[in-house]
Amino acid sequence: MKRVKLWDKEFEISLPNADIQMAIKLMADTMKKDLEGKETLFICILNGAFMFAAELMKELELTDAEISFLKLTSYAGLSSTGEVKELIGLNEVITGRTVVIMEDIVDTGHTIKGVIECLIEKGAKEVKVATLLFKPDALKEDIKLDYVGIEIPNDFIVGFGLDYDRRGRNLKDIYTLVKE
Ligand code: IMP
Ligand code: MG
Repeated sequence: MKRVKLWDKEFEISLPNADIQMAIKLMADTMKKDLEGKETLFICILNGAFMFAAELMKELELTDAEISFLKLTSYAGLSSTGEVKELIGLNEVITGRTVVIMEDIVDTGHTIKGVIECLIEKGAKEVKVATLLFKPDALKEDIKLDYVGIEIPNDFIVGFGLDYDRRGRNLKDIYTLVKE
């Protein structure tokens, strides 16, 4: 099994790039049918979702879509702090719009819940969530996920946008922490 070392930790490949691309393609097929003609505003949650958002938007090929970015942080090291900070906000008009949040992973659900509430407060007509990864066993919030790429066990992962203390985001495959 392919391994990488980031700082002091070893990670083992768990989702090769081909599996990730296939999941994104399937998700895009479903989304296209739902969103055609809706003039959707897609919001990429930075930093983690940058790679997923790029691949998803390419697959979608919508001619009436817009994309924007929201920079948030809630993770420190290996676990969620539960406190979500908004580092770069949105300038777009949200009132009356269909908005799709693009997230790398839903873990406890705190982040996505905060973003959904914020968009509803700003007057969105419809808020949908597209997440590449979902850890059902870690979920603590009552939220609806409209599009889920791959469900994974409650382990710490890196790659394809996800980091361990700022490293590993650039890796094209996804790796799971090797427990000592
Ligand atoms: P939540 O608020 O607990 O759902 O956490 C969501 C955020 O934490 C995601 O947007 C990720 O950036 C980060 N995160 C959650 N799980 C992992 C992981 O296994 N590795 C790296 N980052 C993670
Ligand atoms: Mg994230």
